[in-house]
Formats: sequence, structure tokens, C-alpha cells
Amino acid sequence: MAAIPADTAQFDARYYDQKMESVLKEDGGADFISTWEEVHETFDVMGLKENLLRGIYAYGFEKPSTIQQRGIVPFCKGLDVIQQAQSGTGKTATFCSGVLQQLEYDALACQALVLAPTRELAQQIEKVMRALGDYLQVKVHACVGGTSVREDQRILQSGVHVVVGTPGRVYDMLRRGALKPDYIKIFVLDEADEMLSRGFKDQIYDIFQLLPGKLQVGLFSATMPPDALEITRKFMSKPVRILVKRDELTLEGIKQFYVNVDKEDWKLDTLCDLYETLAITQSVIFINTRRKVDWLTDKMRSRDFTVSATHGDMDQNTRDVIMREFRSGSSRVLITTDLLARGIDVQQVSLVINYDLPTQPENYLHRIGRSGRFGRKGVAINFVTQDDTRLLQDIQKFYNTQIDELPSNVADLL
Ligand SMILES: Nc1ncnc2c1ncn2[C@@H]1O[C@H](COP(=O)(O)OP(=O)(O)OP(=O)(O)O)[C@@H](O)[C@H]1O
Ligand SMILES: [Mg+2]
Repeated sequence: MAAIPADTAQFDARYYDQKMESVLKEDGGADFISTWEEVHETFDVMGLKENLLRGIYAYGFEKPSTIQQRGIVPFCKGLDVIQQAQSGTGKTATFCSGVLQQLEYDALACQALVLAPTRELAQQIEKVMRALGDYLQVKVHACVGGTSVREDQRILQSGVHVVVGTPGRVYDMLRRGALKPDYIKIFVLDEADEMLSRGFKDQIYDIFQLLPGKLQVGLFSATMPPDALEITRKFMSKPVRILVKRDELTLEGIKQFYVNVDKEDWKLDTLCDLYETLAITQSVIFINTRRKVDWLTDKMRSRDFTVSATHGDMDQNTRDVIMREFRSGSSRVLITTDLLARGIDVQQVSLVINYDLPTQPENYLHRIGRSGRFGRKGVAINFVTQDDTRLLQDIQKFYNTQIDELPSNVADLL
């Protein structure tokens, strides 16, 4: 079963840089506060509500990360923001704090809408929002597909402050009148570049049309390619931008390797050889198609390896169970598609395997970023067939990073 050939031209650094330069130049600085230099080195000096601070500390955070030091305050001020920071560096708490700071808790009306590309991610964000807002008694609801529509309607009608959801279900709830947009004043897109890409853009616009005209917009992602930035002009006013350069996006803590598998057919044996290494830690294996996830899962199981798997064709209950087991550590090896490439935060994951190289450049970073969360160590291993050699070089060049041949002592690095 052959992988979808990756489009090598996508990792074109020259195109990316030229386009980025022209997008930033067209703005001429006039419409954009292009950089935000103000830094707040502790949560205490950010001017946050007492009960929000309590929530942040109770969640276990002591010191704000770089993006939190720079990003929370402008968002709290009600400014439009575009905030980019490397994977696993705390963007979620950045926008959750910004939202929680600005809600009026006496009014039980939806005032903030957060959208994410997958149900798993929306549910994860909802939990963080709820935890950080615990002492504020925030009411948050995850509004995602694959769950009971009636139950969603019931919860929304009973009143919530914040909705975190996926575009399809949120749009449905807006259209049915179950979610009232009148008091929504904050609109957040997590994984914003993905949300503004072909697959989602129209849905986002449809939702945006239904929201009040006066709206604070916050965009967050580890990747913010120029094509996405260009679109943001249409619906944001003078956003504060915190951007990271293309060649500064990889994390020091994640060591990247490749294995020459020569042919597609040899990947399976290679993976089995590596399994001892997989099993000593928690790991995610990325595959480019859902069918191939099923195929590999069967193959591994028929060889008596314990693996779990998830993808978008499975029913939501099964997906939820698989995620719960993986988060709790009761399952250790998870085979999946790009469904879990972005945003998913499982701190114990220290190894990511690209059984297939990703077809979309940004997803290389997102995938390997499932390991090495918040300064932890991580390892990424790429299976490379003869046809992939060029693509691997392009990835290295594009992100200015080094991908070495896999050493025999890889287990020592985990
Ligand atoms: N100030 C902090 N102190 C300690 N841990 C933190 C802090 N901020 C965030 N974390 C933890 O770091 C991990 C990664 O955070 P988060 O998921 O928000 O990253 P992200 O920037 O959204 O990454 P991605 O681009 O992969 O979505 C989480 O487990 C989170 O709880
Ligand atoms: Mg995130």
C-alpha cells in the first residue's frame, strides 16, 4: 500500500520567504502593530483577576512561558492578536487566560467562542479553560460533532460563558438558535493556519458572519505560513503579531532522526524492530491515510504487539475511549493520522514516528511537537524510502534543522 506522495514543492523556502516578506510589507506597518515587545515575567504582574491567578497557580504553573509573558497582556487588553510560538510552549493557557480575564461572570451568556480543527483538541482545550477558570466558576461547554445534538442544545440553553468547539457543530448550534451569538465578544481560532486553510475556511467565514460586528479575534498556532497571514487581513483590525521565523521553529529538545527503509514494504519490519524502544515510553505513529492506520494496526496485532489506533472514520465513542486510555498511559503506542498531529498534549509522549512523511509542510512540525512538550526531551524518527530522500532534505532545509541517521542507542535518548 503506497503512501500518498508528498508534494515536494511545498517545502519551498524561497517561495515562503518571498511571500512572507510581501505580506508583511504590504501591511506597511500602518495597519499592524507588527511586534509587541512588552514582557511580563511573572503571572502576578499581568494585572489578572485574583481568582484567575489562583486558578493558574492551582493548575501547577509557576512561571509564564515566553509566549505567555508576551501574549497574555495584549489579549487581555481586548486587542486582536496573531500569536505564534513553538509547539508545546503554552499557547492554550495564553488564550484561555485572555478569555477568562475578560468575561462578565454575572451574565450567563456565551461571550467567547473558541474553535479548533478536531474534536479531540476542542475537548482538551475545554478542560484547560475549565481548570484555569475553576475559581471564577466559569461555565464552559465543548461543542463537538459525534455527540448528542439534543444534549448540546440543552446545555447551551441552560447557559454557558464560553463555547469551545469544532466548526461543524458550532455552526449547527448557531443556526438552530441554541447558541446565541449576541453577546459573543471574543473569537479564538486555535491552530489558526489550519482553520484558515482550504478545508475549513468557508466554514469559519460562515460562523464569522453570524457573530457580532464588534469582535476581538485571536489567532494561535505554532505555524503561521504567509498564505494564512494574508487571509487574516480580511477580518482582523490592527492585530498585535507575535511571529516566529521559519528557521527558528524547531525545538532544541526534540532530536530528529531518519531510518532508510528503502522500500515501502520494509517499513513494517523496521517498526517491529523498533518496538522495544516504543514500548519503553509513550509514542505516536503517524500514517498518511485512515485505511493504512487500520492495516498497520492489524499487522502489528497479528504479530502480538499491543497498539491502539484512532482516526476520523471511527465513531466518536471509540475515539474518546482511545484518547482517554492514551492520556492515562494505559495504552502506550498510538497509531493515527494527522487527526492528532496538532495541539494534542500528552506530556509523557517522548517518541514520534513518521511511518509516512507528512504531505503538508506545517504538519511535520506539529507531528514531532507531540513529543518534547514544555521543554521535555523528545525524539522523532522518520521512515524514509528512496522516493522520500529529496523530501527529507527539503524538510531539513526548510526548518533549518538536522535530521541524522538513527543511532543504535536511540533508547538512551528517551
Ligand atoms: N507556565 C507554564 N508552566 C508549566 N507548564 C506549562 C505552562 N504553560 C503551559 N504548560 C504546559 O505545557 C504543555 C503544553 O502547553 P500547550 O498545549 O498549551 O502548548 P501549545 O503551545 O498549545 O502547543 P501546540 O502548538 O502543540 O498546540 C501543557 O501540558 C501545559 O499544561
Ligand atoms: Mg496548542
